[in-house]
Amino acid sequence: MSQAGSEGAGQATMRVAVVGGDGIGPEVIDQGLRVIDAAGVTLETERYELGGSRYLADGTILPDSVLDEWRGFDAIYLGAVGTPGVPPGVIERGLLLKMRFELDLYINRRPFRTDSHDFVVIRENTEGSYAGEGGFLRKGTAHEIATQGSVNTRMGAERCIRYAFDLATSRRNHLTLVHKTNVLTFSGDLWQRAFDEVAEEYPGVETAYNHVDAASIYFVQDPQRYDVIVTDNLFGDILTDLGGAVSGGIGLAASANLNPARTGPSMFEPVHGSAPDIAGQNKANPIAAIMSGAMMLDFLGAGDAAERIERACEACVSTEGSTVAIADAVIAKL
Ligand code: IPM
Ligand code: MN
Repeated sequence: MSQAGSEGAGQATMRVAVVGGDGIGPEVIDQGLRVIDAAGVTLETERYELGGSRYLADGTILPDSVLDEWRGFDAIYLGAVGTPGVPPGVIERGLLLKMRFELDLYINRRPFRTDSHDFVVIRENTEGSYAGEGGFLRKGTAHEIATQGSVNTRMGAERCIRYAFDLATSRRNHLTLVHKTNVLTFSGDLWQRAFDEVAEEYPGVETAYNHVDAASIYFVQDPQRYDVIVTDNLFGDILTDLGGAVSGGIGLAASANLNPARTGPSMFEPVHGSAPDIAGQNKANPIAAIMSGAMMLDFLGAGDAAERIERACEACVSTEGSTVAIADAVIAKL
């Protein structure tokens, strides 16, 4: 499997924990691994059976012992998790968010590229309304109260904003903050001040600000205006589905959950979910998973292989056919 020109040569083999997950997850991840191998990069992989099916089978979600093992890996490559019959939040909070929080994957990087636009959303990935602050009072009564707070630390906003500025300097030197400062006058104010202060360190980067509702219009009507966007966790979640929808569909949308400080592994997964309705039918588009694999290689230092995979995927965005056939087409273009 180790081939001439392998980027693994001269450096330690990358150790990757692989979570196929549920539904179409394992199918698309298998193709991602095939493409990485075909690109000449040798990975040392270890499989973990986790997700909704595992939870239904024996109650396991994400044991701390597994998290501890993962701290010794270079990356985690994940398909999708989610199974009908599991209550909302169990797998999302217990697995995905636990990974993001415990491994401090504070950047969620989601690129969107077509013939006509090319932008990246940098989503804060550990705070905001995802933090889990809140609770019930008088649950189940007519006077029930539910609160769900949004946690915004200066440190959390600032490290995310700084990452986005750095990224902008390696691209077209343009960064847009997206928030809702006209209504969220506490969290919005913190984000805006952090943004303005960090901006002073990057005089070469042109900045802009959009409210999130207006940004939703621009995503559809004028996405060319964007280079890099930085935003909070929930706005980023919603906007990146929209980004996928206006960039060839969610079947193409890749995502990296990064710990840029490299105090542990980063996690790479397609934006899409487990799509149980088409699972096991060799129908799912593997491009998003393959592109997420390319982001993993890039982050781990195999930039040339990552770029070849990316270009091959771009040549196959309109390819139709089975999961395996689309991966075959990508491999043929490498
Ligand atoms: C995503 C997903 C997750 C999120 C869910 C599954 C927890 O929608 O990665 O965008 O909301 O972040
Ligand atoms: Mn989402």
